[in-house]
Amino acid sequence: MSLLRTVMDARLHARLARAINIADLRLIAQKRLPKAVFEFIDGGAEDEITLRDNRAAFERNLLRPRILNDVSQPDMQTPWHGRVAQAPLVIAPMGSCMLAWPQADIAIAKAATSLGLPYTLSTMSTTSIEVMADAVQGDLWFQLYVLKDHAFNDQLVQRAHAAGYGTLVVTLDLQAGGKRERDLRNGITVPLRLNVRQVLDGIAHPAWAWQMLRGGSPQFENVKGYMGQQSADLTIAAKVGQSLDSAYDWDDLARLRDRWKGQLMVKGVAHPDDAWRLAQMGVDTLWLSNHGGRQLDGAVASLDALPAIARRLGGKMPLILDSGVRRGVDILKAHTLGAKAVAVGRAVLYGAAAGGEAGAKHALQILIDELRLSMKLSGLARWGDDPALLAPYRHGDPPAPAVVSGDSTSR
Ligand SMILES: Cc1cc2nc3c(=O)[nH]c(=O)nc-3n(C[C@H](O)[C@H](O)[C@H](O)COP(=O)(O)O)c2cc1C
Repeated sequence: MSLLRTVMDARLHARLARAINIADLRLIAQKRLPKAVFEFIDGGAEDEITLRDNRAAFERNLLRPRILNDVSQPDMQTPWHGRVAQAPLVIAPMGSCMLAWPQADIAIAKAATSLGLPYTLSTMSTTSIEVMADAVQGDLWFQLYVLKDHAFNDQLVQRAHAAGYGTLVVTLDLQAGGKRERDLRNGITVPLRLNVRQVLDGIAHPAWAWQMLRGGSPQFENVKGYMGQQSADLTIAAKVGQSLDSAYDWDDLARLRDRWKGQLMVKGVAHPDDAWRLAQMGVDTLWLSNHGGRQLDGAVASLDALPAIARRLGGKMPLILDSGVRRGVDILKAHTLGAKAVAVGRAVLYGAAAGGEAGAKHALQILIDELRLSMKLSGLARWGDDPALLAPYRHGDPPAPAVVSGDSTSR
């Protein structure tokens, strides 16, 4: 048995070593996973306009590098509320990860921790708040979806606090489940409910099927018993959407701000007026996101939403950005437009799907190495220095003024 394990580990490391960028890891994930699972991870809502534009925005915004700075040792350290991350990179919350690899949540969290990066556990994770806190001693953040039952929300927040999560990330762009048409066609659910097509697809992906059989079908561990049996046949997005409170408003968030004494972040921000109001009510960090193009199709790319928000806040509070980050240079571009750090979802999940913890770590290491190289080639010695690197748009638009969200209040 241990010989078999050694051979399998050697094959896995050889497979990962051939992946030199995130796109390579995505291809490995695509080969390993059944179509329904891969498309659940990879896909977006409706016509996938926002999904594509998230990438296009990074391609539209180019840099104008500087020279003659000492960039022999680029410093990427990023302070977060009394801790220091080794790079301006955060793991975005993701539900249903164990569809991709056994214990994928823990694998990703361990990979992040080993590189000194914060990890965000989703309400819809397939590992519970407590099991994660026992398994991983790193900077753990907890992401809350506001469920209809506010007493249940309070319990989740209480559990996160008791387990030592110091940061609460409230996701507010999921007032309903996005219309993900690939998932509707594929009929993917959690727990897995297999139809003939999916069984055949599983047989065609034996390594994945074997892992699933051994590990058991993933469950939403934090909300067991809450989601209800009546929704067993719904797709994942529909099931989650059905459970959320679409009446949640500013007063509800103000109450949460009063109750939660740790860092409070709001995820899903795209509009400067919302950003301004959130800053006024004492939210600590804003997390610009369109859920990776999985919710409102037609929502502005996060990178395009960033300059107006950064201008409006004038460096008043730290901004995190996600949606579409696939390269280290993307992190630098987001920084020049005002982000303190970026979060990654699919980039690290492709890695985990390709090779568990080693694959997730490989994905993060690729992004960190690419960022270090981009900083050198752009003449940026320290993260947080005003880079003023943004080049004018190619089509003659004036460049957005660069505003870096200084985090002088890092707690
Ligand atoms: C498989 C998957 C599951 C996700 N689940 C959640 C979730 O439970 N909570 C949440 O706030 N966002 C969730 N997201 C959105 C991510 O947190 C993040 O906003 C998005 O993935 C960023 O885009 P990117 O994948 O292009 O990096 C999920 C994304 C993916 C790909």
